Amino acid sequence: MSDITTQETTLDTLPAYLSDVYTWAYLTPRLTGFLDRQVVVQTILWGNAQRLIDGVLSHLKPGDAVFQPAAVYGDFSRQVAATIGPQGRLEVRDIAPLQVSLTRRKLADLAHVHVARADAAAPERGAFDAVTCFFLLHEVPDEVKRQVVPAMLNLVQPGGQAIFVDYHRPHGWHPLKPLMRRIFQWLEPFALSLWSQEIQALAGSVGASFRWSKRTRFGGMYQTVIAERR
Ligand SMILES: C[S@@+](CC[C@H](N)C(=O)[O-])C[C@H]1O[C@@H](n2cnc3c(N)ncnc32)[C@H](O)[C@@H]1O
Repeated sequence: MSDITTQETTLDTLPAYLSDVYTWAYLTPRLTGFLDRQVVVQTILWGNAQRLIDGVLSHLKPGDAVFQPAAVYGDFSRQVAATIGPQGRLEVRDIAPLQVSLTRRKLADLAHVHVARADAAAPERGAFDAVTCFFLLHEVPDEVKRQVVPAMLNLVQPGGQAIFVDYHRPHGWHPLKPLMRRIFQWLEPFALSLWSQEIQALAGSVGASFRWSKRTRFGGMYQTVIAERR
């Protein structure tokens, strides 16, 4: 069980990085209908979305309490909810009101899912079996990454896990490496730093209470990092 308090009512404004860089992706109602499809997510991730999602699901079990700090397009949350089942509980957060309402509508038939507005960088209280941070870190500036990672770790109860899935530095020979660099420079300016720093290094002192492991996929382009609380 988790005791959870949100700061929903105190979030007056959106962070500048979101409105400056990602208005088209997350704050524009007429585009979300197109983007919020599994086939689009699968395409953006070069056909790897389901493999990466399956990697997350393999760490979850029926009855788990799961915290998801940001909305994900497509059916990631529905798959998490199905894996933990009605005995489990999924808490989804997002900082953008539009994403909160979209996600609420998308998951309205699932009584064990609760969606609310919150900032992943601001400490929330709770104790979860798992925290699933799916492609959030590459979208926030480094100083926010350094707030989000410890905030997520603090939500993990002993024996539980934080699961971070995100971009990673592709191998030198990867044919898509130059293109991805261009895409990041153009559209995702906070992503490239994940090519040169470990997610574990963003954890600060909280990280010492966790056992860390990392698996990369698709020629190093993606990483799944598991932090298990001792
Ligand atoms: C999880 S990330 C990227 C997911 C991936 N591109 C996808 O949807 O398939 C996208 C979400 O993060 C949210 N977000 C960005 N900064 C946040 C923060 N500090 N706290 C909570 N949500 C945040 C955005 O509003 C957006 O809905």
